[in-house]
Amino acid sequence: MKRIVLGADHGGYELKNTIKAHLQSRGFEVYDVGTNSAESCDYPIFASHLCQKLQKGEADLGILVCGTGIGMSMAANKHRGIRAACCSDTFSARLTRLHNNANVLCLGARVLGAGLALDLVNEFVDAEFEGDRHVKRLSLIEDIENGKAL
Ligand code: RB5
Repeated sequence: MKRIVLGADHGGYELKNTIKAHLQSRGFEVYDVGTNSAESCDYPIFASHLCQKLQKGEADLGILVCGTGIGMSMAANKHRGIRAACCSDTFSARLTRLHNNANVLCLGARVLGAGLALDLVNEFVDAEFEGDRHVKRLSLIEDIENGKAL
């Protein structure tokens, strides 16, 4: 069973808690790096805590929630080995696992209703990377991460 780590800022913590209850009810092992209140905070800090957990191999997938999902995805994608996708449709949430081997899903709590957000979460956590021709493309992304000009 996959281990899933969740993180949010003040704009996303309520949806993050809804996602947490949903994933726990599905039997996943869930970690929560916060935040846990409506008090204003800085999303890059929570993105970084979540990404460190993935980098250490302590979780398999991450889900980050802020107002739009965009700031979280920008911050998460600055971390080595992190492939974060900000999604608001189920097709993209599934395909980013199948083709991009995304390990972080970013959601906008001010963009999505809870029902759609949980559908996106299900698509993301249930899909598996297809490998094959996509492996080479991901290794090119890794080259960029290592400072190589393509
Ligand atoms: C916080 O007001 C908001 O900027 C944040 O939640 C997020 O939407 C940033 O991308």
